[in-house]
Amino acid sequence: MDKNTAVIILAAGKGERMKSAIPKVLHPVCSRPMLGYVLDLVKGFRVSKTVAVLGHKHEEVKNILPPGIKIVLQKGLRGTGDAVRQAEKALKGFRGTVLVLYGDTPLLKSETIRQLLTHHRQSKPAATVLTVTTDEPSGYGRIIRDKYSSISGIVEDKDADDYEKSINEINTGIICFDKEALFGALRKIRPNNAKKEYYLTDVITLLYKEGRIIEYISIKDVHEVLGINSRKDLALANGIMQKRINDRLMQQGVSIVDPDSAFIGFGTKVGVDSTIYPFTVIERDVKIGRFCSVGPFAHLREGTRLEDNTVVGNFIEIVRSRIGKRTLVKHFSYIGDTLIGKDANIGAGTVTANFNGLKKNITVIKDRAFIGSDTVLVAPVEVGRGAKTGAGSVVTSRHNVADNTVVAGVPARRLKTDGCA
Ligand code: UD1
Ligand code: CA
Repeated sequence: MDKNTAVIILAAGKGERMKSAIPKVLHPVCSRPMLGYVLDLVKGFRVSKTVAVLGHKHEEVKNILPPGIKIVLQKGLRGTGDAVRQAEKALKGFRGTVLVLYGDTPLLKSETIRQLLTHHRQSKPAATVLTVTTDEPSGYGRIIRDKYSSISGIVEDKDADDYEKSINEINTGIICFDKEALFGALRKIRPNNAKKEYYLTDVITLLYKEGRIIEYISIKDVHEVLGINSRKDLALANGIMQKRINDRLMQQGVSIVDPDSAFIGFGTKVGVDSTIYPFTVIERDVKIGRFCSVGPFAHLREGTRLEDNTVVGNFIEIVRSRIGKRTLVKHFSYIGDTLIGKDANIGAGTVTANFNGLKKNITVIKDRAFIGSDTVLVAPVEVGRGAKTGAGSVVTSRHNVADNTVVAGVPARRLKTDGCA
């Protein structure tokens, strides 16, 4: 079904309005670069060819592209029309539909693209534009219609007169084209506008003037096509994506006590009957088992794995660590680069000192270990099965604690009376 479709993703822009040294499309939405979501959409369609147009800091952007995507470079960033034109060579020999997507529109749903493509294939126009009506059209291109209500052009915000500015129907930027019509018209557009750029939107105006048919479909939810241009847009997109992630987790059987203060990154998995308490930040790709309890005020960073029935309480930071079944880490702890076994108790204030100024080192805490309050474990170090550390101990690096023994003090030494710390 998708064989006659090619996709062009525009991601060359600098993102001036972000005021950032990072290319706009790499800014994260729920812990993931926004371009990643657009790439996912394309993956779902198995199209014949995908071309990404890169420019500003393309070496950095390239790093997140999966194999199989053809990269073309746009020099000079002369507008969306110029960007699409750069993809022409890469599509040599291809005939059919070209779908243009923007790297700064990460909330778009695949269902919408499916509808757009279906409509385009059925009516076979020169172009099919995805539009939406909004109370806040400012910044977007406005849809101009003729007396028969057919789309006759798109006027950019900066070029719009007062009447055009009052139009609430906007160009989402997502447009399907007949390939020949697109590239034919692109050769004819000129940068005679406020930004002195080659606008892709001028292709629509031009095709209409040439008597070609412009179709459209509209969607209801303006948020789905939010183009991220500023930090404010970015914050809005984060909120919307977060709601989607949290809604899905709740649907799958996870309790989120206050979804508005549960910040859970893309790709994180949480098992059924686990509870996420308020003010918790969980970054991307964290894995949490069943019947776990996380937060309030917990921060789980990349590479965290909580096995079933663990409790991670308040003011805990965990990174690159695995916490075994039924283990408790309940109050004020930093656990980094650590493997903790099952049924362990990590006392309040435990800190794994994983960084010696040069490199990160590993801490291992084995099954049933009991780490006393305020213990510092200087990595690399191991605490054996059933071993205990006394409150306030500093277990220095490589001074491993043997199974079922007790250590205490600074630096920690083995107590003669093993068993009571
Ligand atoms: C664009 C549309 C506008 C639409 C809005 C929807 C044009 C002229 N305007 O405006 O009608 O309402 O999107 O969000 O198309 N890019 C390049 N090379 C360039 C310029 C831009 O690759 O030379 C890329 C950017 O990286 C970005 C996308 O194209 O991913 C859109 O560019 P942007 O400058 O954000 O366009 P808008 O002003 O938002
Ligand atoms: Ca934009």
